[in-house]
This record gives sequence, C-alpha cells and structure tokens, in this order.
Amino acid sequence: MTARQADHPIDALFLNRHSPRAFTTEEIPQAELLTLMEAARWAPSASNTQPARLAWGRRGEAEFQTIAGLLVPGNRIWAERAAALVVVASQAEKEGAALTWHAFDAGAAWMSLALQAHLRGWVAHAMGGFDKEAAVQALHLPAGHALHCVVAIGRQGPAETLPEHQRPREMPNSRRPLSEVAGHGRFL
Ligand SMILES: Cc1cc2nc3c(=O)[nH]c(=O)nc-3n(C[C@H](O)[C@H](O)[C@H](O)COP(=O)(O)O)c2cc1C
Repeated sequence: MTARQADHPIDALFLNRHSPRAFTTEEIPQAELLTLMEAARWAPSASNTQPARLAWGRRGEAEFQTIAGLLVPGNRIWAERAAALVVVASQAEKEGAALTWHAFDAGAAWMSLALQAHLRGWVAHAMGGFDKEAAVQALHLPAGHALHCVVAIGRQGPAETLPEHQRPREMPNSRRPLSEVAGHGRFL
C-alpha cells in the first residue's frame, strides 16, 4: 500500500482517515456509536442553527435492515456487513425561512463523526448511493428536510471479504495538489 503524501505538513489524522469497504464482524456498542454521533452534534453551523439530523441502526437491529434496504446494490453488498449505518439529513428550512447553509453544516457534522470514528479505531464510509425517495417514508423524514448520505461504520477488515471487483479500490486514494485547489486571492 502506498502511503498518502501531504504537500504540506498536516496531522496524520487527515491522511490516515479513509473510506474502506471491508469490515470485521465486530459489533459497535450503542454507547460507542453515541460517542461518534456526539462529535457530529458539536460541529459548527451557521448561526448555530444545528440543522444536521441523524437516523441510525446497529447491525442485527430492524432499524439497520431498514437503512441497508435503501442502499443501491453496489453499496449494500459491502455496507450491510458494517457494524452500524447512520443516515445524515438536515433541516433545510425553519418557520418558512431557508436555512441556507444546511448542507454545508451537515457536511461538517459528517466529517466530525468520521474523524471521531478514526480517532477511536473505527472507519466511517459515506454513501450517496441510496434511494432517497424511499428513505423519506421509511425513516419518517420530516417536511423541509434534505437527505444527504448513509454512513457505514465498523472496524476495517480484510479486503478478501469483498466481492473481487471491489478489492482494488480498498487502497487509500490520493488528492489533486493544493496548487490546483487554493488560489491566492482568486479561484483558479
Ligand atoms: C457525499 C459522498 C458520497 C459518497 N458516495 C459513495 C457511495 O455511494 N459509494 C461508495 O462506495 N463511496 C461513496 N463515497 C466515498 C468516496 O468515494 C470517498 O470518500 C472518496 O473517494 C475519498 O476517499 P477517502 O474517503 O477514502 O479519502 C462518498 C463520499 C461522499 C463524501
């Protein structure tokens, strides 16, 4: 495995967090999952509106099966082996007024969860590939809310547990250089 290389020095946390698909069979205790979601709760948000909303289930629970059933087949095949699935949504409007930054804030919440997971030895893998229409009903999404991702959480397992075509993607991927991302006083 080629180690990820940073162009500029950053904490190993940011390089080592990644999104594997292979999990061990280890279960996640409910208290531990609550700790990961607690990190999401403390993410910053516009005017502290805290629009992020989560719906979760642990493997073995009916709630987990409901969420797993929403995933597209290419995600379901590996993600139903996860220890937990967490759906990330956000409140998009409040009392008729748009919460303009709800999606940005939900992104911060997911990342807080992912980094807290990494710090505690878990992996968290976000998936946009799920049936959002079906999720509205199945998860009782309130009106004025938007769905974003399902996050699979577990302990990383051996790639051999994956279907053969998914094994090569188990390696951490790379990033475009910072010089293509950050412009001095203007966008590139
Ligand atoms: C919004 C979002 C949607 C994603 N959807 C999927 C998905 O449906 N299936 C999947 O296997 N990975 C999905 N991913 C994972 C990305 O492919 C992955 O985060 C990206 O390649 C960077 O790799 P890393 O997380 O290992 O650093 C998604 C990630 C994000 C943030």
